[in-house]
Amino acid sequence: AALAEPGAVADAAPAAAAGSSQTLTILYGSQTGNAEGVAGSLRDAAQAGGITARLADMADYKPKDLKQESNLVVVVSTHGEGEPPDDAEDFYEFLHGKKAPKLDGVRFSVLALGDSSYEHFCETGRVIDERLAELGGTRVIDRVDCDVDYDDAAEAWTADVLAKFAAPEPAGDAHPTVTSLPTAARTPQAPTRKNPHGAAILANTVLNGRGSDKEVRHIELDTEDSGLIWTPGDSLGVVPSNPPAAVDALLAALQLDGDARVTGVDGEVSLAHALRHQYEITTLTRPFVTQYAQLAESGDLQNLLGDDQRDAFADYVYGRDLTDLVREYPVPGLSASDFVRLLRKLPPRLYSIASSHAANPDELHLTVAAVRYHSHGRDRLGVASTHLADRVGEDDTVPVYIDANKSFKLPADNDTPLIMIGPGTGVAPFRAFLQEREEQGAGGDNWLFFGAPHFRTDFYYQTDWLRWRRDGLLSRLDVAFSRDQADKVYVQHRLREQARDVYGWLENGANVYVCGDADRMARDVHDALGDIIAEQGGMSADAAADYLKRLQKEKRYQRDVY
Ligand code: 2AM
Repeated sequence: AALAEPGAVADAAPAAAAGSSQTLTILYGSQTGNAEGVAGSLRDAAQAGGITARLADMADYKPKDLKQESNLVVVVSTHGEGEPPDDAEDFYEFLHGKKAPKLDGVRFSVLALGDSSYEHFCETGRVIDERLAELGGTRVIDRVDCDVDYDDAAEAWTADVLAKFAAPEPAGDAHPTVTSLPTAARTPQAPTRKNPHGAAILANTVLNGRGSDKEVRHIELDTEDSGLIWTPGDSLGVVPSNPPAAVDALLAALQLDGDARVTGVDGEVSLAHALRHQYEITTLTRPFVTQYAQLAESGDLQNLLGDDQRDAFADYVYGRDLTDLVREYPVPGLSASDFVRLLRKLPPRLYSIASSHAANPDELHLTVAAVRYHSHGRDRLGVASTHLADRVGEDDTVPVYIDANKSFKLPADNDTPLIMIGPGTGVAPFRAFLQEREEQGAGGDNWLFFGAPHFRTDFYYQTDWLRWRRDGLLSRLDVAFSRDQADKVYVQHRLREQARDVYGWLENGANVYVCGDADRMARDVHDALGDIIAEQGGMSADAAADYLKRLQKEKRYQRDVY
Protein backbone atom coordinates (compact mmCIF):
# COMPACT_ATOMS: atom_id res chain seq x y z
CA ALA A 1 0.00 0.00 0.00
CA ALA A 2 1.31 3.45 -0.87
CA LEU A 3 1.05 5.14 2.48
CA ALA A 4 2.46 8.56 3.20
CA GLU A 5 5.78 9.02 4.95
CA PRO A 6 4.99 10.58 8.30
CA GLY A 7 5.82 14.26 8.33
CA ALA A 8 8.73 14.14 10.71
CA VAL A 9 11.03 17.08 10.13
CA ALA A 10 14.68 17.10 11.06
CA ASP A 11 14.79 20.00 13.50
CA ALA A 12 16.27 19.12 16.84
CA ALA A 13 14.16 21.30 19.18
CA PRO A 14 13.32 19.20 22.21
CA ALA A 15 9.60 18.64 22.48
CA ALA A 16 8.10 20.12 25.60
CA ALA A 17 6.33 16.90 26.43
CA ALA A 18 9.38 14.68 26.21
CA GLY A 19 10.26 13.57 29.66
CA SER A 20 13.18 14.04 32.00
CA SER A 21 15.54 11.15 32.38
CA GLN A 22 13.31 9.58 35.00
CA THR A 23 10.05 9.74 33.11
CA LEU A 24 8.47 6.47 32.07
CA THR A 25 6.84 7.01 28.70
CA ILE A 26 3.93 4.65 28.09
CA LEU A 27 3.24 4.62 24.39
CA TYR A 28 0.18 2.82 23.12
CA GLY A 29 -1.38 1.90 19.80
CA SER A 30 -4.99 0.86 20.18
CA GLN A 31 -7.76 0.04 17.72
CA THR A 32 -10.77 -0.66 19.92
CA GLY A 33 -9.37 0.56 23.25
CA ASN A 34 -7.91 -2.55 24.90
CA ALA A 35 -4.25 -1.51 24.55
CA GLU A 36 -5.23 1.98 25.68
CA GLY A 37 -6.84 0.47 28.77
CA VAL A 38 -3.75 -1.55 29.69
CA ALA A 39 -1.53 1.51 29.14
CA GLY A 40 -3.82 3.63 31.32
CA SER A 41 -3.76 1.09 34.16
CA LEU A 42 0.03 1.01 33.97
CA ARG A 43 0.11 4.80 34.16
CA ASP A 44 -2.13 4.75 37.26
CA ALA A 45 -0.04 2.05 38.92
CA ALA A 46 3.19 3.89 38.09
CA GLN A 47 1.85 7.11 39.56
CA ALA A 48 0.67 5.32 42.68
CA GLY A 49 4.17 3.87 42.98
CA GLY A 50 5.80 7.28 42.70
CA ILE A 51 7.07 6.83 39.15
CA THR A 52 6.67 9.82 36.89
CA ALA A 53 4.75 8.51 33.94
CA ARG A 54 3.59 9.98 30.67
CA LEU A 55 0.85 8.34 28.64
CA ALA A 56 1.02 8.85 24.87
CA ASP A 57 -1.13 7.67 21.99
CA MET A 58 0.95 6.68 18.93
CA ALA A 59 -1.49 8.78 16.93
CA ASP A 60 -0.26 11.98 18.63
CA TYR A 61 3.32 11.02 19.52
CA LYS A 62 6.17 12.72 17.63
CA PRO A 63 8.33 9.76 16.70
CA LYS A 64 11.49 11.85 16.58
CA ASP A 65 11.05 12.30 20.36
CA LEU A 66 11.97 8.65 20.69
CA LYS A 67 15.65 9.41 21.00
CA GLN A 68 14.99 11.61 24.02
CA GLU A 69 13.28 8.84 25.93
CA SER A 70 15.15 6.95 28.61
CA ASN A 71 12.39 4.65 29.78
CA LEU A 72 9.93 3.59 27.14
CA VAL A 73 7.24 0.95 27.24
CA VAL A 74 4.96 0.15 24.33
CA VAL A 75 1.52 -1.47 24.43
CA VAL A 76 0.19 -2.27 20.98
CA SER A 77 -2.34 -4.56 19.35
CA THR A 78 -2.42 -6.40 16.02
CA HIS A 79 -5.42 -6.68 13.70
CA GLY A 80 -6.63 -8.47 10.59
CA GLU A 81 -3.75 -9.81 8.56
CA GLY A 82 -1.04 -8.70 10.99
CA GLU A 83 -1.79 -4.98 10.71
CA PRO A 84 -1.15 -2.26 13.31
CA PRO A 85 -4.07 -0.23 14.66
CA ASP A 86 -5.05 2.57 12.22
CA ASP A 87 -3.77 5.17 14.69
CA ALA A 88 -0.39 3.44 14.95
CA GLU A 89 0.36 3.18 11.21
CA ASP A 90 2.51 6.32 10.95
CA PHE A 91 4.57 5.46 14.00
CA TYR A 92 5.03 1.91 12.71
CA GLU A 93 6.23 3.14 9.34
CA PHE A 94 8.48 5.78 10.86
CA LEU A 95 10.30 3.09 12.85
CA HIS A 96 11.14 1.35 9.57
CA GLY A 97 12.04 4.49 7.65
CA LYS A 98 15.31 6.27 7.08
CA LYS A 99 14.46 8.91 9.69
CA ALA A 100 14.29 6.44 12.55
CA PRO A 101 16.83 7.62 15.15
CA LYS A 102 19.52 5.73 17.02
CA LEU A 103 18.12 4.65 20.34
CA ASP A 104 21.26 4.04 22.37
CA GLY A 105 20.47 4.68 26.00
CA VAL A 106 16.74 4.02 25.58
CA ARG A 107 15.52 1.28 27.89
CA PHE A 108 12.35 -0.36 26.62
CA SER A 109 9.83 -3.16 26.85
CA VAL A 110 6.89 -4.13 24.61
CA LEU A 111 3.54 -5.68 25.50
CA ALA A 112 1.79 -7.09 22.43
CA LEU A 113 -1.95 -7.80 22.26
CA GLY A 114 -3.40 -10.20 19.71
CA ASP A 115 -5.29 -13.40 19.01
CA SER A 116 -3.35 -16.63 18.61
CA SER A 117 -5.92 -18.09 16.24
CA TYR A 118 -4.66 -15.61 13.61
CA GLU A 119 -1.60 -16.39 11.54
CA HIS A 120 0.18 -13.12 12.33
CA PHE A 121 -0.31 -13.32 16.07
CA CYS A 122 1.03 -10.18 17.82
CA GLU A 123 2.93 -9.20 14.68
CA THR A 124 2.88 -5.43 15.35
CA GLY A 125 4.32 -5.82 18.85
CA ARG A 126 6.89 -8.32 17.64
CA VAL A 127 8.11 -6.03 14.86
CA ILE A 128 8.25 -2.92 17.09
CA ASP A 129 10.15 -4.88 19.73
CA GLU A 130 12.71 -6.08 17.17
CA ARG A 131 13.06 -2.66 15.61
CA LEU A 132 13.62 -0.82 18.93
CA ALA A 133 16.46 -3.25 19.64
CA GLU A 134 17.91 -2.87 16.13
CA LEU A 135 17.97 0.88 16.58
CA GLY A 136 20.12 0.45 19.68
CA GLY A 137 17.59 0.35 22.51
CA THR A 138 18.09 -1.90 25.53
CA ARG A 139 15.34 -4.44 26.09
CA VAL A 140 14.83 -4.41 29.84
CA ILE A 141 11.99 -6.96 29.88
CA ASP A 142 11.32 -9.52 27.17
CA ARG A 143 8.27 -8.88 25.07
CA VAL A 144 5.07 -10.48 26.30
CA ASP A 145 2.57 -11.66 23.67
CA CYS A 146 -0.96 -11.69 25.04
CA ASP A 147 -3.82 -13.76 23.68
CA VAL A 148 -7.47 -12.64 23.64
CA ASP A 149 -7.71 -13.21 27.36
CA TYR A 150 -4.94 -10.76 28.15
CA ASP A 151 -5.70 -9.54 31.69
CA ASP A 152 -3.42 -11.85 33.67
CA ALA A 153 -0.45 -11.59 31.30
CA ALA A 154 -0.84 -7.81 31.13
CA GLU A 155 -0.99 -7.56 34.91
CA ALA A 156 2.17 -9.62 35.30
CA TRP A 157 3.99 -7.50 32.70
CA THR A 158 2.80 -4.31 34.43
CA ALA A 159 4.23 -5.50 37.75
CA ASP A 160 7.50 -6.33 36.02
CA VAL A 161 7.64 -2.87 34.42
CA LEU A 162 7.02 -1.18 37.77
CA ALA A 163 9.85 -3.17 39.34
CA LYS A 164 12.41 -2.77 36.55
CA PHE A 165 11.65 0.84 35.57
CA ALA A 166 11.26 2.17 39.11
CA ALA A 167 12.68 5.67 39.53
CA PRO A 168 15.75 5.83 41.74
CA GLU A 169 14.57 8.95 43.61
CA PRO A 170 12.31 8.66 46.67
CA ALA A 171 8.64 8.34 45.92
CA GLY A 172 7.75 11.63 47.59
CA ASP A 173 9.75 13.64 45.04
CA ALA A 174 7.87 12.44 42.06
CA HIS A 175 5.79 14.91 40.13
CA PRO A 176 3.68 12.91 37.79
CA THR A 177 3.26 14.66 34.46
CA VAL A 178 0.42 12.86 32.85
CA THR A 179 -2.15 13.51 30.26
CA SER A 180 -5.46 12.03 31.09
CA LEU A 181 -7.43 10.56 28.27
CA PRO A 182 -11.15 10.14 28.36
CA THR A 183 -11.99 6.53 28.98
CA ALA A 184 -15.36 5.08 28.17
CA ALA A 185 -17.55 6.01 31.09
CA ARG A 186 -19.26 2.94 32.45
CA THR A 187 -21.21 2.66 35.66
CA PRO A 188 -19.26 0.57 38.20
CA GLN A 189 -21.77 -2.26 38.11
CA ALA A 190 -21.70 -2.50 34.32
CA PRO A 191 -21.12 -6.11 33.25
CA THR A 192 -17.57 -6.91 32.16
CA ARG A 193 -15.72 -9.74 30.45
CA LYS A 194 -14.92 -11.22 33.86
CA ASN A 195 -18.34 -10.48 35.25
CA PRO A 196 -20.81 -10.75 32.36
CA HIS A 197 -24.57 -10.35 32.43
CA GLY A 198 -26.79 -13.37 31.75
CA ALA A 199 -29.15 -12.20 29.02
CA ALA A 200 -32.31 -14.00 27.94
CA ILE A 201 -33.04 -14.35 24.24
CA LEU A 202 -36.24 -12.60 23.19
CA ALA A 203 -36.14 -13.42 19.49
CA ASN A 204 -34.11 -15.72 17.28
CA THR A 205 -35.12 -15.77 13.63
CA VAL A 206 -33.46 -16.60 10.33
CA LEU A 207 -33.20 -13.54 8.08
CA ASN A 208 -32.67 -15.52 4.88
CA GLY A 209 -35.52 -16.64 2.73
CA ARG A 210 -36.04 -20.27 1.80
CA GLY A 211 -33.44 -21.61 -0.62
CA SER A 212 -30.58 -19.41 0.55
CA ASP A 213 -27.34 -21.17 1.34
CA LYS A 214 -26.70 -18.74 4.21
CA GLU A 215 -28.10 -18.90 7.72
CA VAL A 216 -27.93 -15.40 9.14
CA ARG A 217 -29.96 -14.85 12.28
CA HIS A 218 -31.52 -11.82 13.90
CA ILE A 219 -31.17 -12.25 17.64
CA GLU A 220 -32.71 -10.01 20.28
CA LEU A 221 -31.39 -10.09 23.83
CA ASP A 222 -33.20 -8.81 26.90
CA THR A 223 -31.14 -5.96 28.37
CA GLU A 224 -33.72 -4.53 30.77
CA ASP A 225 -32.05 -3.64 34.11
CA SER A 226 -28.84 -5.25 32.89
CA GLY A 227 -26.50 -2.29 33.30
CA LEU A 228 -25.49 -2.81 29.65
CA ILE A 229 -24.95 0.53 27.95
CA TRP A 230 -23.55 0.86 24.44
CA THR A 231 -23.20 3.36 21.67
CA PRO A 232 -23.51 2.54 17.97
CA GLY A 233 -20.33 0.87 16.70
CA ASP A 234 -19.71 -1.06 19.92
CA SER A 235 -19.64 -4.85 19.95
CA LEU A 236 -21.24 -7.37 22.25
CA GLY A 237 -18.87 -9.88 23.83
CA VAL A 238 -20.54 -13.29 23.98
CA VAL A 239 -19.10 -15.88 26.38
CA PRO A 240 -20.00 -19.13 24.65
CA SER A 241 -19.71 -22.84 25.37
CA ASN A 242 -18.48 -25.49 22.95
CA PRO A 243 -20.86 -27.74 21.01
CA PRO A 244 -21.43 -31.00 22.97
CA ALA A 245 -20.61 -33.06 19.85
CA ALA A 246 -17.19 -31.39 19.61
CA VAL A 247 -16.49 -32.23 23.26
CA ASP A 248 -17.54 -35.86 22.76
CA ALA A 249 -15.37 -36.22 19.67
CA LEU A 250 -12.35 -34.83 21.48
CA LEU A 251 -12.84 -37.08 24.53
CA ALA A 252 -13.07 -40.09 22.20
CA ALA A 253 -9.93 -39.08 20.30
CA LEU A 254 -8.05 -38.60 23.57
CA GLN A 255 -9.44 -41.88 24.94
CA LEU A 256 -10.01 -40.07 28.21
CA ASP A 257 -12.93 -40.22 30.64
CA GLY A 258 -14.98 -37.00 30.82
CA ASP A 259 -15.33 -37.51 34.57
CA ALA A 260 -11.57 -37.28 35.15
CA ARG A 261 -10.78 -34.41 37.54
CA VAL A 262 -8.60 -31.61 36.23
CA THR A 263 -7.54 -28.15 37.36
CA GLY A 264 -9.68 -25.83 35.26
CA VAL A 265 -9.73 -22.06 34.89
CA ASP A 266 -10.74 -21.49 38.51
CA GLY A 267 -10.46 -24.72 40.44
CA GLU A 268 -11.07 -28.41 40.05
CA VAL A 269 -13.70 -29.54 37.54
CA SER A 270 -14.40 -32.57 35.38
CA LEU A 271 -12.54 -32.83 32.09
CA ALA A 272 -15.88 -32.77 30.26
CA HIS A 273 -16.86 -29.50 31.98
CA ALA A 274 -13.49 -27.92 31.23
CA LEU A 275 -13.74 -28.84 27.55
CA ARG A 276 -17.34 -27.73 27.29
CA HIS A 277 -17.15 -24.38 29.08
CA GLN A 278 -13.61 -23.25 29.76
CA TYR A 279 -11.18 -23.98 26.91
CA GLU A 280 -10.90 -23.54 23.18
CA ILE A 281 -11.13 -26.90 21.42
CA THR A 282 -12.18 -26.00 17.89
CA THR A 283 -9.31 -23.74 16.77
CA LEU A 284 -5.77 -24.97 16.24
CA THR A 285 -3.53 -22.09 17.27
CA ARG A 286 0.20 -22.03 16.62
CA PRO A 287 1.12 -21.87 20.35
CA PHE A 288 -1.05 -24.93 21.03
CA VAL A 289 0.32 -26.96 18.12
CA THR A 290 3.86 -26.01 19.14
CA GLN A 291 3.39 -27.34 22.65
CA TYR A 292 1.49 -30.40 21.53
CA ALA A 293 4.19 -31.24 18.98
CA GLN A 294 6.73 -31.52 21.78
CA LEU A 295 4.64 -34.28 23.38
CA ALA A 296 3.75 -36.00 20.13
CA GLU A 297 7.38 -36.52 19.18
CA SER A 298 6.44 -36.47 15.51
CA GLY A 299 8.92 -35.25 12.93
CA ASP A 300 6.09 -34.38 10.52
CA LEU A 301 4.41 -32.16 13.04
CA GLN A 302 7.70 -30.49 14.01
CA ASN A 303 8.39 -29.76 10.33
CA LEU A 304 5.01 -28.12 9.94
CA LEU A 305 6.08 -25.55 12.54
CA GLY A 306 9.18 -24.49 10.63
CA ASP A 307 9.43 -20.85 9.63
CA ASP A 308 9.52 -21.83 5.95
CA GLN A 309 6.30 -23.83 6.38
CA ARG A 310 3.92 -20.99 7.25
CA ASP A 311 1.64 -21.69 4.29
CA ALA A 312 1.62 -25.43 4.91
CA PHE A 313 0.75 -24.76 8.57
CA ALA A 314 -2.12 -22.45 7.56
CA ASP A 315 -3.37 -25.12 5.13
CA TYR A 316 -3.22 -27.80 7.79
CA VAL A 317 -5.12 -25.92 10.51
CA TYR A 318 -7.80 -24.69 8.07
CA GLY A 319 -10.94 -26.77 8.64
CA ARG A 320 -9.32 -28.91 11.33
CA ASP A 321 -9.70 -28.79 15.09
CA LEU A 322 -7.99 -30.31 18.13
CA THR A 323 -9.74 -33.64 17.59
CA ASP A 324 -8.15 -34.01 14.15
CA LEU A 325 -4.70 -33.25 15.52
CA VAL A 326 -5.08 -35.70 18.41
CA ARG A 327 -6.37 -38.44 16.08
CA GLU A 328 -3.54 -37.91 13.63
CA TYR A 329 -0.75 -37.52 16.17
CA PRO A 330 -1.78 -39.45 19.30
CA VAL A 331 0.27 -39.11 22.46
CA PRO A 332 0.16 -42.45 24.28
CA GLY A 333 -0.44 -42.07 28.00
CA LEU A 334 -1.29 -38.34 27.83
CA SER A 335 -3.18 -37.50 31.03
CA ALA A 336 -6.26 -35.29 31.26
CA SER A 337 -4.35 -32.73 33.35
CA ASP A 338 -1.41 -32.57 30.97
CA PHE A 339 -3.73 -32.05 28.03
CA VAL A 340 -5.75 -29.30 29.72
CA ARG A 341 -2.56 -27.45 30.60
CA LEU A 342 -1.89 -26.94 26.88
CA LEU A 343 -5.23 -25.29 26.12
CA ARG A 344 -6.07 -21.62 25.83
CA LYS A 345 -9.10 -20.22 27.60
CA LEU A 346 -12.24 -20.13 25.49
CA PRO A 347 -12.21 -16.54 24.24
CA PRO A 348 -15.42 -14.55 24.06
CA ARG A 349 -16.63 -13.76 20.53
CA LEU A 350 -17.46 -10.21 19.51
CA TYR A 351 -20.51 -9.24 17.45
CA SER A 352 -21.26 -5.75 16.13
CA ILE A 353 -24.42 -4.54 17.82
CA ALA A 354 -27.29 -3.98 15.39
CA SER A 355 -29.51 -1.73 17.51
CA SER A 356 -29.35 1.60 19.31
CA HIS A 357 -29.45 1.87 23.09
CA ALA A 358 -30.85 5.38 22.82
CA ALA A 359 -33.70 4.09 20.68
CA ASN A 360 -34.37 1.05 22.88
CA PRO A 361 -32.32 0.36 26.01
CA ASP A 362 -34.27 -2.80 26.89
CA GLU A 363 -33.21 -4.83 23.85
CA LEU A 364 -29.96 -5.47 22.08
CA HIS A 365 -29.99 -6.86 18.54
CA LEU A 366 -27.33 -8.96 16.80
CA THR A 367 -26.93 -10.17 13.23
CA VAL A 368 -25.25 -13.54 13.48
CA ALA A 369 -24.11 -15.82 10.67
CA ALA A 370 -24.52 -19.37 12.02
CA VAL A 371 -21.39 -21.25 11.08
CA ARG A 372 -21.98 -24.89 10.08
CA TYR A 373 -19.82 -26.82 7.66
CA HIS A 374 -18.37 -30.20 6.85
CA SER A 375 -14.65 -30.76 6.58
CA HIS A 376 -12.21 -33.64 6.87
CA GLY A 377 -15.04 -36.11 7.36
CA ARG A 378 -16.92 -34.41 10.20
CA ASP A 379 -19.66 -31.81 10.68
CA ARG A 380 -18.37 -28.68 12.39
CA LEU A 381 -20.14 -25.91 14.25
CA GLY A 382 -19.07 -22.35 14.94
CA VAL A 383 -18.81 -21.98 18.71
CA ALA A 384 -20.59 -18.74 19.60
CA SER A 385 -22.81 -18.48 16.53
CA THR A 386 -24.40 -21.89 17.14
CA HIS A 387 -24.43 -21.29 20.89
CA LEU A 388 -26.68 -18.30 20.17
CA ALA A 389 -28.59 -20.02 17.38
CA ASP A 390 -29.17 -23.44 19.02
CA ARG A 391 -28.06 -23.75 22.58
CA VAL A 392 -29.76 -21.05 24.66
CA GLY A 393 -33.01 -22.59 25.91
CA GLU A 394 -36.25 -20.85 26.97
CA ASP A 395 -35.19 -20.51 30.58
CA ASP A 396 -31.52 -20.04 29.82
CA THR A 397 -29.37 -16.99 29.50
CA VAL A 398 -26.18 -16.23 27.63
CA PRO A 399 -23.33 -14.34 29.39
CA VAL A 400 -22.59 -11.07 27.61
CA TYR A 401 -20.82 -7.74 28.12
CA ILE A 402 -20.18 -4.62 26.03
CA ASP A 403 -16.87 -4.45 24.19
CA ALA A 404 -16.60 -0.77 23.30
CA ASN A 405 -15.00 0.22 20.00
CA LYS A 406 -13.57 3.74 20.10
CA SER A 407 -12.62 3.52 16.42
CA PHE A 408 -16.10 3.05 14.99
CA LYS A 409 -18.20 5.93 16.13
CA LEU A 410 -20.83 8.26 14.75
CA PRO A 411 -19.57 11.85 14.33
CA ALA A 412 -20.46 14.26 17.13
CA ASP A 413 -22.06 16.54 14.56
CA ASN A 414 -25.52 15.27 13.60
CA ASP A 415 -25.31 17.14 10.30
CA THR A 416 -22.28 15.21 9.05
CA PRO A 417 -23.22 13.09 6.04
CA LEU A 418 -22.45 9.35 6.32
CA ILE A 419 -21.41 6.84 3.68
CA MET A 420 -21.84 3.34 5.13
CA ILE A 421 -20.49 0.26 3.39
CA GLY A 422 -21.60 -3.02 4.94
CA PRO A 423 -22.08 -6.16 2.87
CA GLY A 424 -23.39 -9.32 4.56
CA THR A 425 -23.47 -9.22 8.36
CA GLY A 426 -21.28 -6.11 8.07
CA VAL A 427 -24.52 -4.16 7.78
CA ALA A 428 -25.30 -4.72 11.49
CA PRO A 429 -23.75 -1.57 12.98
CA PHE A 430 -25.39 0.61 10.32
CA ARG A 431 -28.81 -0.45 11.55
CA ALA A 432 -27.67 0.84 14.96
CA PHE A 433 -26.32 4.05 13.35
CA LEU A 434 -29.61 4.76 11.61
CA GLN A 435 -31.76 3.89 14.64
CA GLU A 436 -29.64 6.33 16.64
CA ARG A 437 -29.85 9.07 14.03
CA GLU A 438 -33.62 8.58 13.77
CA GLU A 439 -33.95 8.77 17.56
CA GLN A 440 -31.91 11.97 17.67
CA GLY A 441 -33.61 13.56 14.71
CA ALA A 442 -30.16 13.96 13.14
CA GLY A 443 -30.29 15.97 9.92
CA GLY A 444 -27.18 14.67 8.13
CA ASP A 445 -27.59 12.71 4.89
CA ASN A 446 -27.09 8.94 5.04
CA TRP A 447 -26.01 6.65 2.20
CA LEU A 448 -25.88 2.87 2.60
CA PHE A 449 -24.12 0.33 0.37
CA PHE A 450 -25.26 -3.23 1.03
CA GLY A 451 -24.25 -6.45 -0.67
CA ALA A 452 -25.40 -10.08 -0.47
CA PRO A 453 -25.72 -13.10 -2.78
CA HIS A 454 -29.42 -12.81 -3.78
CA PHE A 455 -32.05 -10.09 -3.57
CA ARG A 456 -34.84 -12.57 -2.96
CA THR A 457 -33.31 -14.44 -0.01
CA ASP A 458 -30.51 -12.34 1.49
CA PHE A 459 -31.65 -8.71 1.74
CA TYR A 460 -31.26 -8.44 5.52
CA TYR A 461 -33.50 -5.88 7.24
CA GLN A 462 -35.01 -4.91 3.92
CA THR A 463 -38.13 -3.46 5.56
CA ASP A 464 -36.04 -1.21 7.84
CA TRP A 465 -34.00 0.21 4.96
CA LEU A 466 -37.03 0.74 2.77
CA ARG A 467 -38.95 2.46 5.56
CA TRP A 468 -36.00 4.77 6.25
CA ARG A 469 -35.61 5.38 2.54
CA ARG A 470 -39.27 6.43 2.36
CA ASP A 471 -39.00 8.57 5.50
CA GLY A 472 -35.96 10.30 4.06
CA LEU A 473 -33.59 9.26 6.87
CA LEU A 474 -31.75 7.15 4.32
CA SER A 475 -30.99 9.51 1.45
CA ARG A 476 -29.51 6.84 -0.79
CA LEU A 477 -29.43 3.06 -0.86
CA ASP A 478 -27.24 1.08 -3.24
CA VAL A 479 -27.35 -2.71 -3.27
CA ALA A 480 -25.08 -5.28 -4.89
CA PHE A 481 -26.60 -8.74 -5.22
CA SER A 482 -23.58 -10.67 -6.32
CA ARG A 483 -25.20 -13.81 -7.73
CA ASP A 484 -28.34 -12.45 -9.34
CA GLN A 485 -26.59 -12.07 -12.72
CA ALA A 486 -23.84 -13.79 -14.66
CA ASP A 487 -21.04 -11.53 -13.41
CA LYS A 488 -20.37 -10.83 -9.74
CA VAL A 489 -21.44 -7.38 -8.57
CA TYR A 490 -20.01 -6.21 -5.27
CA VAL A 491 -20.38 -3.05 -3.15
CA GLN A 492 -17.14 -1.66 -4.57
CA HIS A 493 -18.60 -1.86 -8.09
CA ARG A 494 -21.55 0.21 -6.92
CA LEU A 495 -19.16 2.71 -5.32
CA ARG A 496 -17.25 3.03 -8.59
CA GLU A 497 -20.48 3.51 -10.56
CA GLN A 498 -21.34 6.40 -8.25
CA ALA A 499 -17.81 7.81 -8.25
CA ARG A 500 -18.79 11.41 -8.88
CA ASP A 501 -21.34 11.51 -6.06
CA VAL A 502 -19.13 9.57 -3.65
CA TYR A 503 -16.36 12.11 -4.18
CA GLY A 504 -18.88 14.95 -3.90
CA TRP A 505 -20.05 13.61 -0.53
CA LEU A 506 -16.44 13.32 0.68
CA GLU A 507 -15.71 16.89 -0.38
CA ASN A 508 -18.86 17.86 1.48
CA GLY A 509 -17.45 16.46 4.70
CA ALA A 510 -19.00 12.98 4.71
CA ASN A 511 -17.62 10.29 7.00
CA VAL A 512 -17.01 6.83 5.50
CA TYR A 513 -17.59 3.60 7.44
CA VAL A 514 -16.72 0.09 6.30
CA CYS A 515 -17.77 -3.03 8.19
CA GLY A 516 -17.34 -6.71 7.30
CA ASP A 517 -14.76 -8.99 5.70
CA ALA A 518 -11.19 -7.72 6.22
CA ASP A 519 -9.32 -9.89 3.76
CA ARG A 520 -10.94 -9.10 0.49
CA MET A 521 -13.92 -6.75 0.82
CA ALA A 522 -12.28 -4.04 2.95
CA ARG A 523 -9.19 -4.11 0.74
CA ASP A 524 -11.18 -3.88 -2.50
CA VAL A 525 -13.33 -1.07 -1.08
CA HIS A 526 -10.20 0.79 0.03
CA ASP A 527 -8.76 0.47 -3.49
CA ALA A 528 -12.03 1.62 -5.01
CA LEU A 529 -12.11 4.70 -2.77
CA GLY A 530 -8.51 5.50 -3.74
CA ASP A 531 -9.32 5.21 -7.45
CA ILE A 532 -12.47 7.30 -7.09
CA ILE A 533 -10.59 10.09 -5.31
CA ALA A 534 -7.75 10.04 -7.86
CA GLU A 535 -10.08 10.09 -10.84
CA GLN A 536 -12.66 12.57 -9.55
CA GLY A 537 -10.18 14.83 -7.80
CA GLY A 538 -7.71 14.74 -10.69
CA MET A 539 -4.97 13.49 -8.39
CA SER A 540 -2.10 11.06 -8.60
CA ALA A 541 -2.48 7.70 -6.86
CA ASP A 542 -0.13 8.94 -4.12
CA ALA A 543 -2.12 12.09 -3.56
CA ALA A 544 -5.32 10.02 -3.37
CA ALA A 545 -3.67 7.74 -0.82
CA ASP A 546 -2.73 10.84 1.21
CA TYR A 547 -6.33 12.05 0.97
CA LEU A 548 -7.59 8.76 2.41
CA LYS A 549 -4.88 8.83 5.04
CA ARG A 550 -6.00 12.29 6.08
CA LEU A 551 -9.62 11.13 6.31
CA GLN A 552 -8.44 8.29 8.54
CA LYS A 553 -6.51 10.67 10.82
CA GLU A 554 -9.49 12.96 11.09
CA LYS A 555 -11.63 9.93 12.04
CA ARG A 556 -13.65 10.44 8.90
CA TYR A 557 -12.75 7.02 7.49
CA GLN A 558 -13.38 4.27 10.04
CA ARG A 559 -13.34 0.52 9.64
CA ASP A 560 -14.56 -2.41 11.70
CA VAL A 561 -13.33 -5.38 9.73
CA TYR A 562 -12.61 -8.95 10.73
P1 2AM B 1 -20.22 -13.83 -3.25
O1 2AM B 1 -20.28 -14.72 -2.05
O2 2AM B 1 -21.33 -14.05 -4.20
O3 2AM B 1 -18.88 -13.86 -3.94
C1 2AM B 1 -21.87 -10.71 1.48
O4 2AM B 1 -21.23 -11.86 1.93
C2 2AM B 1 -21.54 -10.42 0.04
O5 2AM B 1 -20.16 -10.07 -0.08
C3 2AM B 1 -21.78 -11.58 -0.90
O6 2AM B 1 -22.61 -11.11 -1.90
C4 2AM B 1 -20.40 -11.91 -1.41
O7 2AM B 1 -20.40 -12.34 -2.74
C5 2AM B 1 -19.75 -10.56 -1.34
N1 2AM B 1 -18.29 -10.57 -1.54
C6 2AM B 1 -17.44 -11.62 -1.70
N2 2AM B 1 -16.19 -11.19 -1.93
C7 2AM B 1 -16.23 -9.84 -1.92
C8 2AM B 1 -15.25 -8.83 -2.11
N3 2AM B 1 -13.96 -9.10 -2.37
N4 2AM B 1 -15.66 -7.55 -2.02
C9 2AM B 1 -16.96 -7.25 -1.76
N5 2AM B 1 -17.91 -8.15 -1.61
C10 2AM B 1 -17.57 -9.44 -1.67
